[in-house]
Amino acid sequence: MPGIIHIEQLCKSYFMGQQELQVLKGVSLDIHKNEYVSLMGPSGSGKSTLMNILGCLDSPTAGTYILNGHDVSKMHDNSLAEVRNKEIGFVFQQFNLLPRLTALENVALPLIYAGVSKTNAMKKPCRYWKK
Ligand SMILES: Nc1ncnc2c1ncn2[C@@H]1O[C@H](COP(=O)(O)OP(=O)(O)O)[C@@H](O)[C@H]1O
Ligand SMILES: [Mg+2]
Repeated sequence: MPGIIHIEQLCKSYFMGQQELQVLKGVSLDIHKNEYVSLMGPSGSGKSTLMNILGCLDSPTAGTYILNGHDVSKMHDNSLAEVRNKEIGFVFQQFNLLPRLTALENVALPLIYAGVSKTNAMKKPCRYWKK
């Protein structure tokens, strides 16, 4: 059974002028629901490159990425932003919070982008916190 994260023969190259740097050279992996996975490797081995693709922040050069049944491999910025909003959460090493907003406003922001009214968005996270 394919995982909730399913990648097949994923490749990513960075181009600097004519120079191609192949970072991911055919990575295949399945991550199933409720699985915890650690990605380990020396500095420069491509962990961040792979995480950026898994988090839909970047696209592969070749190969397939199916996230929860959606083929996100060839999606462009707007569709990827939609998937990030609905399908995946990402905890960054740096917090990437908006400094002008309160903690609650920062947490509520993705709900507002998802179309929930500000009043409901500010209520909804509280419901989860009280559980
Ligand atoms: N935006 C980029 N442009 C060009 N090369 C990059 C870029 N990001 C990463 N690299 C190169 O890709 C390789 C893998 O980097 P990275 O994915 O950051 O590795 P890790 O997270 O495992 O340390 C490194 O050689 C790095 O210099
Ligand atoms: Mg890294």
